[in-house]
Amino acid sequence: MKILVLAGGLSPERNVSLSSGALIAQALRDLGHQAALVDLFFGLDGMDVSGEELYSQPIPEKLRHISPKAPDLGEIRAQRKTGGRSAIGPGVLELCVGADIVFLALHGSCGEDGRIQATLDLLGVPYTGSGYLGSAMAMDKDLTKRLVAGEVMTPRWETVTVTQENIPALLERTELPVVVKPIASGSSIGVYIAHDRPELEHALQESVKLGGRTVLEQYVSGREIQVALLENRALPSIEIIPNEGFYDYENKYQPGAAREVCPAQIPQEWEKRLGEAALKVFHILGLGVYSRADFIVTEDGTPYFLEINTLPGMTPTSLVPQEAAAVGISYPALCQRIIDASLEERKESL
Ligand SMILES: Nc1ncnc2c1ncn2[C@@H]1O[C@H](COP(=O)(O)OP(=O)(O)O)[C@@H](O)[C@H]1O
Ligand SMILES: [Mg+2]
Repeated sequence: MKILVLAGGLSPERNVSLSSGALIAQALRDLGHQAALVDLFFGLDGMDVSGEELYSQPIPEKLRHISPKAPDLGEIRAQRKTGGRSAIGPGVLELCVGADIVFLALHGSCGEDGRIQATLDLLGVPYTGSGYLGSAMAMDKDLTKRLVAGEVMTPRWETVTVTQENIPALLERTELPVVVKPIASGSSIGVYIAHDRPELEHALQESVKLGGRTVLEQYVSGREIQVALLENRALPSIEIIPNEGFYDYENKYQPGAAREVCPAQIPQEWEKRLGEAALKVFHILGLGVYSRADFIVTEDGTPYFLEINTLPGMTPTSLVPQEAAAVGISYPALCQRIIDASLEERKESL
């Protein structure tokens, strides 16, 4: 098959995405497919090759390593020689139309939020993962929690628009400890766990910089366990134990920063509850193909659902590939299954 792997894009998670994309594209080539890796934002900008030639260019090894800091998107924007306001780079849509399927290795806004899915739907191009509506709903942490709160346990929360004017009132009335998170981000970018007022003030100031729409969520003390879903079933869960602090950006992508135990060493009953909760969320949001749900499990085994990721990481330190490996699905086999299930999912809409 001829597969276009879309990665990068104008998202704070672009480096994570490029790392996922490089690994996916290489795995697809190893499987005998024709695969090209393209940056959604840059496309063919500044390249002296044609779109077709991308299918035979080597996949840069260096993309696999993710720097410990998220990139500055203003700087990224300025690097595109063709300029313009479009989030889609030159030649990208033509390349999509020319492929048998687009493998979405994008993360966060510009990829995981449904807009690229809707674009590809309109172009009549099949793509991997969930459809546009489920993707959009799952990207919004407030909407997701509102939709699932009656069916699964999720920490108490309040969604606010933080401004310089209301920070004093929020400092006054917010119960501590609290988790402050942007309504639609990922990779823990902008997520703060505030234990005292100065920490809360810092987190709220950062929220303003990130646009203001913020979820203030009850901090739940427990074990961090995530569950991948593939083709309507839960894979063995994985426990994350960071060496220091919580599962933030650095601990997510620096090899060795967190210990990951898969299958998680938990009672069977907990595993069952986690799998059922993850599947419920998957179905309520109308997701498809694969996803990864994040939980904190309290001492008594209650899984508190945090969020679900419709385009989960596929980097060298990512969790879904580890969960798949626990049931004997290799990385390339996982990519192939995602493609097969996605083609099946899109069959009716094309
Ligand atoms: N309510 C909470 N209680 C305890 N820890 C939390 C809570 N919410 C988030 N966290 C921590 O922050 C991390 C990122 O939060 P999450 O909601 O998964 O957002 P993201 O989309 O950035 O991954 C989680 O993996 C967990 O370590
Ligand atoms: Mg998460």
